[in-house]
Amino acid sequence: MHTAKSVAIILAAGQGKRMRSARPKVLHELLERSMIAWVVDATRSSGVDEIIVVVGHGRDEVEAELRRLYGEHVRTAVQQKQLGTGDAVRAALPLIGDETDRALIINGDCPLIEAEALRSLLEIRAELALLTSTIDNPHGYGRILRDASGRVVGIREEKDCSESERAISEVNPGVYLASIPFLRRAIAALSNENAQGEYYLTDIVGMAEGGAASLSHPIDRLLGVNDPLELSRAETVLLRERRERLMREGVKMRLPETVFVSAECEVEGGAELGANVELRGRTIVRSGAKIDSGSILLDVEVLADAYIKPYTVAEKSVIGERAEIGPFSHLRPETEIGEGGKIGNFCETKKTLLGKGSKVNHLSYVGDGEIGEGVNIGAGTIFCNYDGARKQTTVIGDGAFIGSDSQLVAPVRVGKGAYVASGTTVTRDVPDDALAIARAKQENREGFAARLRRRNDSAKNSP
Ligand code: UD1
Ligand code: MG
Repeated sequence: MHTAKSVAIILAAGQGKRMRSARPKVLHELLERSMIAWVVDATRSSGVDEIIVVVGHGRDEVEAELRRLYGEHVRTAVQQKQLGTGDAVRAALPLIGDETDRALIINGDCPLIEAEALRSLLEIRAELALLTSTIDNPHGYGRILRDASGRVVGIREEKDCSESERAISEVNPGVYLASIPFLRRAIAALSNENAQGEYYLTDIVGMAEGGAASLSHPIDRLLGVNDPLELSRAETVLLRERRERLMREGVKMRLPETVFVSAECEVEGGAELGANVELRGRTIVRSGAKIDSGSILLDVEVLADAYIKPYTVAEKSVIGERAEIGPFSHLRPETEIGEGGKIGNFCETKKTLLGKGSKVNHLSYVGDGEIGEGVNIGAGTIFCNYDGARKQTTVIGDGAFIGSDSQLVAPVRVGKGAYVASGTTVTRDVPDDALAIARAKQENREGFAARLRRRNDSAKNSP
């Protein structure tokens, strides 16, 4: 039985110049999860005994992300200067103990790598083994060099390729397995005499006795990410798989290729997503709920059978069973819509509890509100919750009716079953079952409009 340990070394010290971004490359996200997290997750599930991530450029940020996600489960080694992938591995070697006899080495910019591919590599017993892929356009990848008998005897970086080598379509995705004694020897022997003046990890292939063992694997799971185009291609692969898995589980989608679902979202079978829907953050959509076209939900929980109509934007909110929202409404953080509640079109909500069966149907703003059950809030109602310094609360009792175009100046309470007449500015509490009316008394002046019209007409006609 094999008792010695295995380690994974993930290379993540590079700057990622081609991203043209201040953010370290491995912190760019796919489905809202960082590139490094995708690689570490796959590596953890491969069964290696420990993981070392080599950090350098943007080290503090990368380490913070690793600590946040993995705590003590991932160690880091520091590569002070980015002198190449071979030098990056060199930085990790002092952290590897004697009980460890082999190392998986994985480029940190290979976010689609799966645990299964790593496991099959780990089954190979050789000084050095690597994954290879065949690709239509090998641009940017190191090319695999084989001898007459088919053994892998080298990897040539594109910038060092001859014309004929450049035409080779078998490439190096940057995933290797090496025995530790071999790795220590080979890394010590690397030189930087090449087109980029870097210590290439790929040069260790030429040092393996009898060449390296190889395992071919489809490129669509090994795409390297160096620029925004490659990032989007890799994300597209993940997104397509995510959507397909959800549809297999019973989630209906219209125009699925336009739907975005982040890595941390949960969508139950029996839910329905319209075209151009984006589910971001940790959004949860329960069975029977329907999210219609163009809606964007961030960290929202949509309970069973709720209906989010088109072009709703919502954040950090809970939408109750059978509730209806939109079209064209904006739910800001801490909105909680009770069972069967309704927010209609062109409404904005913020930090508001809407009780069971209550309705805010048209063009209203409700912020810092506690609205009871069975309440009707008329068109154009505004909760005046901010006095320039503080946010104040508006409380509305069960069964109350707020007439259209009313303003409720917080802090204020409207009692249960109370009635606020249209156009009222409520500045004092309204008792249960009372009527509040605060508007100027209407006066009708007979014939006034006709007289005004005649005067205007004669002014227009005089020279
Ligand atoms: C590398 C390989 C190439 C392979 C390709 C696959 C080498 C020399 N070339 O090229 O054969 O086809 O990946 O995508 O290995 N890094 C460090 N420290 C450094 C330099 C890089 O940690 O000093 C890390 C980067 O953060 C990155 C990874 O190593 O995650 C690969 O580096 P990158 O510069 O992207 O290499 P490629 O040019 O893509
Ligand atoms: Mg790369």
